[in-house]
Amino acid sequence: MNEITSSALLELAIESSKSLSAKDRYSRLLDTVRKTIVCDAVALLAVQGDMLKPLALQGLSQDTLGRRFVVSEHPRFSILCNALHAVRFAANSPLPDPYDGLLSDRDGDFPVHACMGLPLYFDNQLLGLLTIDSLTPHVFDNIPERTLEVITAIAATTLNTALMIEKFEQQATHNQNLLSELTHQALVKDGGDIIGESPKINQLKQEIDIVSGSDFNVLIYGETGVGKELVARTLHQKSQRNQGPLVYVNCAALPDNLIESELFGHVKGAFTGADKNRDGKFLLADGGTLFLDEIGELPLAAQSKILRSLQNNEIQPVGQDKIKHVDVRILAATNRDLKIEVEQGKFRADLYHRLSVYPITVPPLRERQTDVAILAGYFIEQSKRKLGFQQLKITSSTITYLSHYDWPGNVRELEHVINRAALKAGARNRHQHTVCIEKTDCGVLTGSASEQTSSHLPVPSKPHETVNLKHATEQFQRQLITNTLQQENGNWAASARRLDMDRANLSRTAKRLGIKVTKTVQNT
Ligand SMILES: Nc1ncnc2c1ncn2[C@@H]1O[C@H](COP(=O)(O)OP(=O)(O)O)[C@@H](O)[C@H]1O
Ligand SMILES: [Mg+2]
Repeated sequence: MNEITSSALLELAIESSKSLSAKDRYSRLLDTVRKTIVCDAVALLAVQGDMLKPLALQGLSQDTLGRRFVVSEHPRFSILCNALHAVRFAANSPLPDPYDGLLSDRDGDFPVHACMGLPLYFDNQLLGLLTIDSLTPHVFDNIPERTLEVITAIAATTLNTALMIEKFEQQATHNQNLLSELTHQALVKDGGDIIGESPKINQLKQEIDIVSGSDFNVLIYGETGVGKELVARTLHQKSQRNQGPLVYVNCAALPDNLIESELFGHVKGAFTGADKNRDGKFLLADGGTLFLDEIGELPLAAQSKILRSLQNNEIQPVGQDKIKHVDVRILAATNRDLKIEVEQGKFRADLYHRLSVYPITVPPLRERQTDVAILAGYFIEQSKRKLGFQQLKITSSTITYLSHYDWPGNVRELEHVINRAALKAGARNRHQHTVCIEKTDCGVLTGSASEQTSSHLPVPSKPHETVNLKHATEQFQRQLITNTLQQENGNWAASARRLDMDRANLSRTAKRLGIKVTKTVQNT
């Protein structure tokens, strides 16, 4: 009797393979148990620390679902949690019943009855219990062991699957929340405010307003440090995709052999070192915006692959045949003239045309000298906050001085000059309420940092003079790295990007060259 029928098994297998909510899975499991074993109450409980939490039940009052049973306080549960196989309690067992008073169709005590419990293990770990009760004593006495084993196995698998799905869902929700929190913070932190009142910057703001509402890909031109990334962020923030992610890719920093996997992802085993599946930047940006910075540095092969993705809205992870659909808007930035690059065969014409539906050019700072004062004010306010000064000012002659410089490093250079000047001024007026930046705090403004470096290069100038190539190369490297780190306020990641190398490599090289730079901690 009570042999589990093959049709009940089949039904359960089919039902549980359908994508159901955990609640549905549980109630179908309990249905199957009841079809196989005649009983008055059945409950599925999950282990949570030292407690049991009812997940689903039939025949017990609904409030049972809200109860948490401390295992050590219930001798029957303690026995079940320590058992390896089904346990049948004697009808006259003196042990108190945890479900006393909880039977749905009667008040008061559980009368003499049949009671059985199945511990549910997966991977040798106790996940929970299935309890089965009947008001008719001894009904469970003759259930074949085999039936109990089958029910235990099915219940354990169901519980394990449901718990895993729940865990993944929680993880996914957590990640989603984390992403939107970080995206929001990044937008708030970086202000997204484009500072400036010059006619050129006003025109730029207008163009941003026009194009941000569309879903066009945008190509952002401009010299280094003009604010291309800021423009990209503003475009994303003002677009309909602003609830989605903004994913940043520095094309210049991608090693050739990893470009495809970085952009499109890979599956486990696709190449040596691919020890797990990995999403590429395109997939991460799904529903949002992908910012391809320094796109002019991409090799032709990678350009073709990006073009294909743009044409079909599809990507193919490395090592996978299946194609995935993605919905991504591309913003790309470059300081190269891509038209010339196309003529020289260095950039694909078709990709260029697809990206430059709406080109935006960010003007260099020397073409908007009137913005220098406003931008200086903006960065002074930031420095004041970072350095904790009560008041930070700048003399008008210093502003004039700054306005007459031609800023080859553009806004970024101005930002760094102000940061350094504020530090110097602060050291000079240590105990004063108001710190004032003067001309001397800004140092001598001449040419770009790299020009300054090159003028110090040792060159064999006299006929018999010798220069040790290795030492000279190292000296140049040392100088270049030190300057870059200074310009980036000791930020290694940013310096590595500027030097087109990866961060670990930069810090190794710096260590070898004996460069020590302490990072300035900025509390923004
Ligand atoms: N108009 C602007 N208003 C405020 N900050 C700016 C402006 N333009 C550039 N910046 C700041 O200058 C720095 C360099 O800008 P970034 O966008 O990284 O330049 P690019 O990508 O063109 O090299 C950043 O810190 C940026 O926030
Ligand atoms: Mg940039």
